[in-house]
Amino acid sequence: MQLTGDYLALAYLVSATLFILGLKGLTHPASARRGNYYAMFGMLLAIVATVLTPAVRSYDFIIAGVVLGATIGTLIALKIRMTAMPQLVAALHSFVGLTAVLVAVGTYLTHSRTGTLSTVLMAELFIGTFIGAITFTGSLVAFGKLQGIITGKPLIFRGQHILNLLMALLMIGLGIQFLLHNQFDALLAVIALALALGILLIVPIGGADMPVVVSMLNSYSGWAAAATGFTLGNNLLIITGALVGFSGAILSYIMSKAMNRSISSIVLGGFGGGEGATGAGPGADNTKGVKTAAVEDAVFLMANASKVIIVPGYGMAVAQAQHALKELADILESKGVTVHFAIHPVAGRMPGHMNVLLAEADVPYDHVFEMEDINPEFTTADVALVVGANDVTNPAAKSDKASPIYGMPILDVYKARQIFFIKRSMNPGYSGVENQLFYQDNCSLVFGDAKKVCEKMVVELKAA
Ligand code: TAP
Repeated sequence: MQLTGDYLALAYLVSATLFILGLKGLTHPASARRGNYYAMFGMLLAIVATVLTPAVRSYDFIIAGVVLGATIGTLIALKIRMTAMPQLVAALHSFVGLTAVLVAVGTYLTHSRTGTLSTVLMAELFIGTFIGAITFTGSLVAFGKLQGIITGKPLIFRGQHILNLLMALLMIGLGIQFLLHNQFDALLAVIALALALGILLIVPIGGADMPVVVSMLNSYSGWAAAATGFTLGNNLLIITGALVGFSGAILSYIMSKAMNRSISSIVLGGFGGGEGATGAGPGADNTKGVKTAAVEDAVFLMANASKVIIVPGYGMAVAQAQHALKELADILESKGVTVHFAIHPVAGRMPGHMNVLLAEADVPYDHVFEMEDINPEFTTADVALVVGANDVTNPAAKSDKASPIYGMPILDVYKARQIFFIKRSMNPGYSGVENQLFYQDNCSLVFGDAKKVCEKMVVELKAA
């Protein structure tokens, strides 16, 4: 059976519609699962329809590729920790970039052999190769930084921006050379320059800005896919690439707004020297000037509160404390306490990180509030329980103009009557900045692993 003409166009149209419904579904946790199914069926239909086109003459390589890819994909999906998702996404974007480069080179070689190279096709090849090559190395650097293989600190040297600009201009010059004189060497030089530029553009960007960078690379990978779609004359690839390109760009904008940073300042780099919240930083054991509390004290106040706001962060994800936290919230509610969960847009290590984990633990959606909705409620909260969050609660973002996170919107935890902060040490959060909240009179630290502390709280509450 072969698919051609209107039938192929119809199959692609249905796939594209399913992708759009998938994106729409992903805008809310309640519909996210359905959205994923739409996107999965859309992709299945797209693959089957493409494989059935007359252009496909042999199935051997395709079957081998599908079996190999599906096996690797399944293994990764089963093994990946939720906290390692951003680097996985970065690694996957690098494949899209590499594919765009390889398809462009392959298409050039095929068409130059058959003498069917047009200027329009060559322009598409030029665009596809440079976006693809930048996406490839840029994503590899982002992966290395997030995985801790490369330092999360911004790598800045003098004349960096001028160098980048010169390289970009040279690349455009070579592109014109390629178009005018059909020089394959010029295309190869464009690829080499774009590969280097991908590295140079991402190394000066610090750890704290990496989520925005990954989202931007997501957008680039979409444009690379769209360029490949033009090269191959595949409408669905053009539509899908544009969807990914625009959604990545919109997400980057939303995230940079949540961090109060402009996209251009992120792209120009140099912010956020944090290495991540894993290593013990200087002063990690310096508890001078902070109050500590026992689990029993925290439980006593929470059990007697009328409103408790729980603020989850990266530490909750690392400790996998969401189930214990849900049980804690259930018991408090059974005692007549109102319990709300407050989610900062960049809490954790990827967009929606906290929402996914709380949904996994069956925390009802109407108990989970976004930053703008919950912030006015902190003044009336008897207790704010911060579970492995740090940067997203740091009042320095509001008060300390010298702080690198100054201007980032935060959860107004500092306004609560009493704050309990669960963390293991005095280590800073992702941005590497000390949290001013720890020194506030109404704040006490409960040291320990988030899961163990929450489980202990549950035991205490049950006994109370
Ligand atoms: P962070 O500021 O990174 O703080 C996490 C805290 O969790 C740390 O202070 C750490 O302190 C604690 N922690 C780690 N493991 C723990 C465990 N097992 N038990 C208890 N506590 C534990 O987290 P946040 O407040 O969620 O802020 C997110 C930060 O990451 C922001 O700076 C954001 O810009 C950045 N970022 C966000 C994303 C996205 S898109 N969400 C992606 C990448 C980066 P101890 O080590 O002392 O325990």
